[in-house]
Amino acid sequence: MRVLLVGSGGREHAMAETLVKSPALSALFIAPGNPGTARCGVNVPIGAHDVAALVTFAREHEIDLVVPGPEAPLVAGLADACALVGLPCAGPTQAAAQLEGSKSFTKEVCDAAGIPTAAWERFTDAASAIAYVRLKGAPIVVKADGLAAGKGVVVATTVAEAEAAITDMMTGGALGDAGRSVVIEDCLVGEEVSLFAFCAGETACLIGAAQDHKRIGNGDTGPNTGGMGAVSPPKGFGRAEQEAALDLLVRPMLREMVRRGTPFRGVIFAGLMLTEQGPSLIEYNVRFGDPEAEALLPRLTSDLLPALQALAEDRLDVAPITFSNQASVCVVMAARGYPGTPEKGAVIHGLDNANALEGVRVFQAGTTQNMAGELVVSGGRVLAVCALADTVQDAQKRAYAGVNAITWDGAVWRTDIGDRAL
Ligand code: AMP
Ligand code: GLY
Repeated sequence: MRVLLVGSGGREHAMAETLVKSPALSALFIAPGNPGTARCGVNVPIGAHDVAALVTFAREHEIDLVVPGPEAPLVAGLADACALVGLPCAGPTQAAAQLEGSKSFTKEVCDAAGIPTAAWERFTDAASAIAYVRLKGAPIVVKADGLAAGKGVVVATTVAEAEAAITDMMTGGALGDAGRSVVIEDCLVGEEVSLFAFCAGETACLIGAAQDHKRIGNGDTGPNTGGMGAVSPPKGFGRAEQEAALDLLVRPMLREMVRRGTPFRGVIFAGLMLTEQGPSLIEYNVRFGDPEAEALLPRLTSDLLPALQALAEDRLDVAPITFSNQASVCVVMAARGYPGTPEKGAVIHGLDNANALEGVRVFQAGTTQNMAGELVVSGGRVLAVCALADTVQDAQKRAYAGVNAITWDGAVWRTDIGDRAL
């Protein structure tokens, strides 16, 4: 089977490494990929956003399956464009990708399906939004309705902070169109975890759960990032709890999407809060997480490719999906300056030494090759250093041994990934 994988991060490197293990794979192309994915297949210089060019490439190169990594091409209609030319795509239609693209859409689906989620209201004018937060008091959460690259959510601890967020988003134009309408919701308290499943129609098959570490600094301090590390499984959220959460928070959503005539197909990523009253849905994403994919995919014991193919054909019930019970810890090494402007260009050393360590896999993200053929820093999150072991403690030791084998001028990472799960 000839596969086109879309994306260029650590997630896509992990997906590429998993796909090349499949006996069913005959060719793998990655658009645009990175130096890590280039070891697994052929990188193609097409941006992940360029839906038309991706489809043209897929037709010209007789691709059998398109596998999207990030959300942007899905929200832009990649799966729909594939369907128009009869090309199987292992991701949701634009209509179903609204589960990630619009906060108010998700909240409406949750309410219609009886899925527990924080009480909410949507506003299209700032004055009403401000009146509402004054009535409700703090803490309260203000969210831009549209896609805002992780910058659209403010968990306000005071009413003044909430008002400032509303003004920035709605009248300051801080987030462009994404902030023209806002969702305001109650603040949930508890441990936050991410649940992943392959879905097609009404079928959902558990992949596993992970805990992300979103803040740049140790002890969850400093600004939010795309994710500085992931641990699987999260403490107190094992397989039984994950299956129960699928029943509570994912399967009713799938039925509601079918009822609406816009069935969901793809990887669902449910972000949830483990509150005292039970799990409550924070958000859905319509793709694997990054770095959660790097933590979860190495645990896969079945073949990923037939599962993605079955998913693309809405026959998920025929593909066995199995995962080992091992623990996984993934530490992101970033470039100094991230999540602001990262310092680029430093030469990275020690990757092969880290990869040679037992249980350790290093996935590349913000890397490129310089004129001399050396691996250099080219983005904010540079590497995801991941390790498997029988316990979280051992996986953590292995992952940090990997991190310590790698050097470049300006490397930063958190030293506490995994602590919360112990
Ligand atoms: P989202 O983009 O909806 O995932 O929100 C980003 C982050 O904001 C989440 O990962 C949570 O840490 C936090 N957050 C979102 N909604 C809530 C909520 N209702 N209560 C508490 N924290 C929240
Ligand atoms: N790590 C969070 C995300 O991929 O959205």
